[in-house]
Amino acid sequence: MIENWDVFLAPYVQAVDELKIKFKGIRSQFEQHSLTSPIEFVTGRVKPIPSILNKALSKNIELAKIEDEISDIAGVRMMCQFVEDITKVVELLKARMDFEVVEERDYISQKKESGYRSYHLVIRYPVETLEGVKKILVEIQIRTLSMNFWATIEHSLNYKYSGQIPENIKQRLQRAAEAAFRLDEEMSLIKDEIQEAQVAFSRKNEG
Ligand code: GTP
Ligand code: MG
Repeated sequence: MIENWDVFLAPYVQAVDELKIKFKGIRSQFEQHSLTSPIEFVTGRVKPIPSILNKALSKNIELAKIEDEISDIAGVRMMCQFVEDITKVVELLKARMDFEVVEERDYISQKKESGYRSYHLVIRYPVETLEGVKKILVEIQIRTLSMNFWATIEHSLNYKYSGQIPENIKQRLQRAAEAAFRLDEEMSLIKDEIQEAQVAFSRKNEG
């Protein structure tokens, strides 16, 4: 049993905060060099305690093992404008020295049955604590804005229907996933045009 959740979750809170700052820093560096950033924005969260308990219950995970077996207690999302940016972000992350990638799942070339698309990395990230370094798992989801739009909506519907989305809505979601996929494709076709415009626009706004 976990007696003190605040103590247990503290390194996860720390990791999410640190990684958000670090990943936003990557974006700033691209901007400082007047380069288009493959990262549009970054979000992060620590899984709420009831969700941790539900997941442990549904996956038959002993509470003593949740830190090794639930890899998304700490979660960070990186949103990209273009599908091509996702590969760049993955390469950037893999080249870093401040954590190691322990798992990689490509739900972009192989989308899930639901229609879900995203690139997932699980990393082992060292957090300094009073007891020394504690390495924790963090799940990083890398996706386009369009994939994020779809996943966010599908997630709410799943929540509303407790995972039992009615068949007609499921079909609509499949079609929406196809539309999101086509949006990504269309944007990729005019990527150079868009990026030129964005660089020009940000220069103008620098004054
Ligand atoms: P989890 O038990 O959810 O961790 O599944 P898993 O261990 O098979 O990992 P997976 O990489 O498939 O999914 C991890 C996370 O990806 C989930 O917690 C969600 O945030 C997201 N995800 C996966 N599939 C879907 C989906 O069909 N819809 C939405 N909205 N999100 C998904
Ligand atoms: Mg998982």
